[in-house]
Amino acid sequence: MYSNALRTGTKIFATAPMIDWSDRHYRYFARQLSKNALLYTEMIVADAILRGNRDRLLGYDTVEHPLALQLGGNDPAKLAEAARIGAGFGYDEINLNVGCPSDRVQSGTFGACLMREPQLVADCVAAMKAAVTIPVTVKCRIGVDDQDPEIALRDLVGRVRAAGVDAVWVHARKAWLQGLSPKENRDIPPLDYGLVRRLKAENPDLFVGLNGGLHTLEQAQAEIGRPGEGLDGAMLGRAAYQDSGVLTGVDAVFAPAGIRSLEASPSAALANGPRVQPFGPSSFRREEDGGPHDAAGNLSAGVGDTRPPLGSAEARPAERGGEGGAAATAGTDGSLVRHTPASQGEAGVLSDAAFFEGVRDAMMAYADGVIAGGGRLNHVTRHMVGLFQGVPGARRYRQILSADATRPGAGPEVIAAAFAAVLEAGADRAAAE
Ligand SMILES: Cc1cc2nc3c(=O)[nH]c(=O)nc-3n(C[C@H](O)[C@H](O)[C@H](O)COP(=O)(O)O)c2cc1C
Repeated sequence: MYSNALRTGTKIFATAPMIDWSDRHYRYFARQLSKNALLYTEMIVADAILRGNRDRLLGYDTVEHPLALQLGGNDPAKLAEAARIGAGFGYDEINLNVGCPSDRVQSGTFGACLMREPQLVADCVAAMKAAVTIPVTVKCRIGVDDQDPEIALRDLVGRVRAAGVDAVWVHARKAWLQGLSPKENRDIPPLDYGLVRRLKAENPDLFVGLNGGLHTLEQAQAEIGRPGEGLDGAMLGRAAYQDSGVLTGVDAVFAPAGIRSLEASPSAALANGPRVQPFGPSSFRREEDGGPHDAAGNLSAGVGDTRPPLGSAEARPAERGGEGGAAATAGTDGSLVRHTPASQGEAGVLSDAAFFEGVRDAMMAYADGVIAGGGRLNHVTRHMVGLFQGVPGARRYRQILSADATRPGAGPEVIAAAFAAVLEAGADRAAAE
């Protein structure tokens, strides 16, 4: 997928690896919102894979593809073995964590600490490359502590590149290993997108993706640049989780990230050319309702959207994508026609009810399966709370998911009730217009 993106100049969108957040339930949900996004697991320590319950650690639903497994570790042989096991589970990519600054990771001397040991990182990459045929990638910082990022980042990237790395995703800030908590290390060290751009300019044939502080698709697009120039991809972590409606706009702009879909699907192949449309509007219009995530990122409406309002018969396009997410089909003139769930009535309604009904139904069925397998509804719904930021009914949606989903015996009907709060509020709003 990375070589394809480089060849065609298309960009890849990824959700970031996030411990406790990007578990399989979040990823299943994220996949309902975007088919094209590349999804990352949480970091899984290589030793755990070698010694632990692999099905529990590595199991996932096939709908999650394209799916990258992030490993933590610093031992080339162990990482190679863990990568081989991950490839055997069907992951599309193995990524090495060179960015996590937590104490637990530091005591194991991996994660961000490895910025100080670039040759060891390269040895790890070489060992993993020798063990698997899928892409092996690195996610790193621009430096740690008193390192000069101009030197540290180039040194690391030069070495992993020589070791055959397929892509680097750069969280464009340093990690300060002493004195800052992991959370502070995601906000306080200043971002330096310019350095990442320069790195890419110096390595035009290496996939370089940008991570850190990207709140919206529009901002991500502005920072990575137009197709065929600039950086090769954008990775969003907190925004894609806390404001997950962001994901519904991804497929309008980013090419499918999956190796399989790129090779197999004619409609996906269409997306590889420069005809990918510029960023479209997100699926929602923000209504300031005091939601928990009030990032500078705005989900405000695009201009000129003519989609029918929620609840109308027209809002049920026949071309809806199979397992959820927006669909892409070829128009009669051969151009790419994107069908992205969108909103943007002036009154701020959620316009694409059918899309969200599909998401609801998929998540209800999924939650049913999780509960039947011994899990709890809240394991699934806790990841869904950020979906309807700023949309009428969103507060009620969050309340239902937060309170009712934790009650003993709670089942998928809670998801139905939560979605109803938004869908009905939208229908009421549309009727009032
Ligand atoms: C809760 C949480 C857990 C994280 N866990 C990981 C992890 O397992 N591996 C990793 O490389 N980065 C981890 N990160 C960092 C993110 O991948 C990302 O680099 C960081 O949040 C900056 O991107 P953002 O501004 O888009 O959120 C985590 C971030 C959060 C918020």
